Amino acid sequence: MNTADTIELFRRYVVPNYGRFPVVLARGEGSHVWDAEGNKYLDLFPGWGCNLLGHCPAPVVRAVQEQVAELIHVPNTWYTEAQGRWAEALSQRSFGGQAFFCNSGTEANEAAIKLVRLHCMPKRRYKIITFAGGFHGRTFGATTATAQPKYHEGLGPLMAGFVYAPFGDLAAVERLIDDETAAIMIEPIQGEGGVNIPPEGFLAGLRKLADQHGLLLVFDEVQTGCGRTGEWFAYQHFGVVPDVMTLAKSLCGGVAGGALLTTAEFAPSLRPGMHAATFGGNPLAARAGIAALEMIDEQNLLARAKVIEQLFRDRLTELAAQCDVVREVRAVGCMIGLELIQDGSPVVKGCLERRLLINCTHGTVIRLLPALTLTDEEAHEGCDILCDVIKGLPTA
Ligand SMILES: Cc1ncc(COP(=O)(O)O)c(C=O)c1O
Repeated sequence: MNTADTIELFRRYVVPNYGRFPVVLARGEGSHVWDAEGNKYLDLFPGWGCNLLGHCPAPVVRAVQEQVAELIHVPNTWYTEAQGRWAEALSQRSFGGQAFFCNSGTEANEAAIKLVRLHCMPKRRYKIITFAGGFHGRTFGATTATAQPKYHEGLGPLMAGFVYAPFGDLAAVERLIDDETAAIMIEPIQGEGGVNIPPEGFLAGLRKLADQHGLLLVFDEVQTGCGRTGEWFAYQHFGVVPDVMTLAKSLCGGVAGGALLTTAEFAPSLRPGMHAATFGGNPLAARAGIAALEMIDEQNLLARAKVIEQLFRDRLTELAAQCDVVREVRAVGCMIGLELIQDGSPVVKGCLERRLLINCTHGTVIRLLPALTLTDEEAHEGCDILCDVIKGLPTA
């Protein structure tokens, strides 16, 4: 089927809730995808951050192929070795806790919200403090946790019990804490909000406030987790350990999966009957998740993230020096933001015309979430195109 025919199918049969580029993707390998007409693209934003290991990473493909012929799905009324091994692998790479599995980031955050409420209910505490510019997902709890009015428009009334603080403002957080506050929930590095790195000491300050007031500290690592930033989890850069952490996106090397990790102290609050996900922790996701973690270890990809970060930082800092339109370069591992002083959508369009896939978030921030398997040559090729397009902007 050609591009026009597929787009016509969507026009007739698919709910139009996404803004889509007029490209039909047909195949992917590493940091490249091909469209239905056979055109090849370099992808510096593979799968909105889900394809951290590139498209169709061989170990994940092999694990899924093996598993799909053995057992596709069984519910959580049974045990599977794969889910247990997956939980162990995540626990060993993080803070030694326990996992609840689901299928997406928003579901992981819903589980976190429920855990917080269940744990704090005896003390009649239920409020959760979240942060301006944060993003936590599209279900009602997670949408309410997302302190961005544009995502709330027309949806009210939202869920009760969320209060919002400016990102980075510890004093404001302290002022919001009262006798009903149960938790603080934050992305340790904001993704959708524009690759915002917290000011020095901010996360440690939140940990201290949480401890002083008996609050749970929840880190949403849906975008930053599983190796994206050059550590297994972003909190490891800051030396601040959360009580609860949520994961999804790259968790299963591109296969759908989500997880909540928490300590053995808090885990029992999600007691039987209070929360579930039918597909959560299914054998396919579990095998893909284990394969993804092992691939990162075997190919030393956490170290590779730091090399890629430096390459982009050098190239984009050089661009910023030449080009007034660039306000700031922010990068942690393979999470890269380039803030412009103007709308970034012409940059995305210009790159697409040159067959480079990137993203613009928050209006002015060019966001790149390249694969850890990106080669130097591919990184330079992407930077060459991006720099050319930015330099060619009308006001640049
Ligand atoms: C930090 C963060 N949390 C949660 C979500 C929601 O994840 P999902 O789309 O898998 O529900 C996202 C998605 O972009 C995210 O970046």
